Amino acid sequence: MAKDIKNVEYGLEKIFEGAQDFLPLLGTDYVEFYVGNAKQSAHFYKTAFGFQSHAYAGLETGLRDRTSYVLKQDKIRIVLTTALTSDSPIGEHVKKHGDGVKIIALWVEDARTSFEETVKRGAKVYMEPTVETDEHGEVIRAGIYTYGETVHMFVERKNYKGDFLPGFKAWNSDYNPSPVGLKFIDHMVGNVGWNQMNETVKWYEDVMGFVNFLSFDDKQITTEYSALMSKVMSNGNGRIKFPINEPAEGKKKSQIEEYIDFYEGAGVQHLALATDDIIKTVAELKARGVEFLPPPPQAYYDEIPNRLGVHRDMMKEDINELQRLSILVDADEEGYLLQIFTKPVEDRPTLFFEIIQRMGAKGFGAGNFKALFESIEREQALRGTL
Ligand code: FE2
Repeated sequence: MAKDIKNVEYGLEKIFEGAQDFLPLLGTDYVEFYVGNAKQSAHFYKTAFGFQSHAYAGLETGLRDRTSYVLKQDKIRIVLTTALTSDSPIGEHVKKHGDGVKIIALWVEDARTSFEETVKRGAKVYMEPTVETDEHGEVIRAGIYTYGETVHMFVERKNYKGDFLPGFKAWNSDYNPSPVGLKFIDHMVGNVGWNQMNETVKWYEDVMGFVNFLSFDDKQITTEYSALMSKVMSNGNGRIKFPINEPAEGKKKSQIEEYIDFYEGAGVQHLALATDDIIKTVAELKARGVEFLPPPPQAYYDEIPNRLGVHRDMMKEDINELQRLSILVDADEEGYLLQIFTKPVEDRPTLFFEIIQRMGAKGFGAGNFKALFESIEREQALRGTL
């Protein structure tokens, strides 16, 4: 594994030297989840994850078919949407997939051009460019499908001064648990079915102008029982990173296959949320009832100084403290990172969250894959899906 990582040029500016970025992305705008009961989901994300009430749209704002709650924590904005009628495509989505991510919205300078450039290159249309206005100005949005029924929405908001989108009102709640220190979305991972990874990678290259800057094959991501393959796609300026996973053959069922079975198709596997104090953030999340994967064995923590290599002296965190909280550690040439994964946040074993703190490292915790997957397999075994 180390060999592959050493061969990778992390300086994305270098990868893109001379290349023209036809889809400049300013960042993630929002992530919208279609859920069975947005009111209760909103309560969970506020209470457990420390998101703040931000905006609302529903019957009281003139909508008849849906309700959406917008929650915020530093730069992270999530939208929880639920159907109000039985004939709604939102309800159909939830019926098929369970609660999950429908829209990964990308902040752009020009939504029309983003739409035209990607559709010209083969993107399937979800929503034609649409102008929405209110007293705060206008927002232009346009959407294309990516893997499964998941959508990338381009959001142009340079002529808008409001809090979120036209049609939403400020959501002032009397219940405001404090934030837990989550800052921004580090990366978002998609799971696709058997033999679909390369197709999906090519779609991101051809349609979105992304590059594949890191790959892991089934020999690298394998345990005694199951395997997966992964390729990390990044946009031109490196702000948006989408790893893509597909299952691989093993003695038992790959966790990716379990996801695909229960989500009934390709979809978002996890959102990695960044913090700059993972010990504080994770201690707080645990106190609020967020469930994390069980810790790796003692041997894993004994190995940490070796794994850190030249970065050993740089590490400020106490290993005993990390172990107490089951936080994982990995290092690459540029530094180290700390990460931890929640259990799925709904009853289907589908979407989960990662909490990550980067101390220079630009990888995705490849050194933790084995420990992590063994932990997931223990959970799969309990579910009878290994
Ligand atoms: Fe991740």
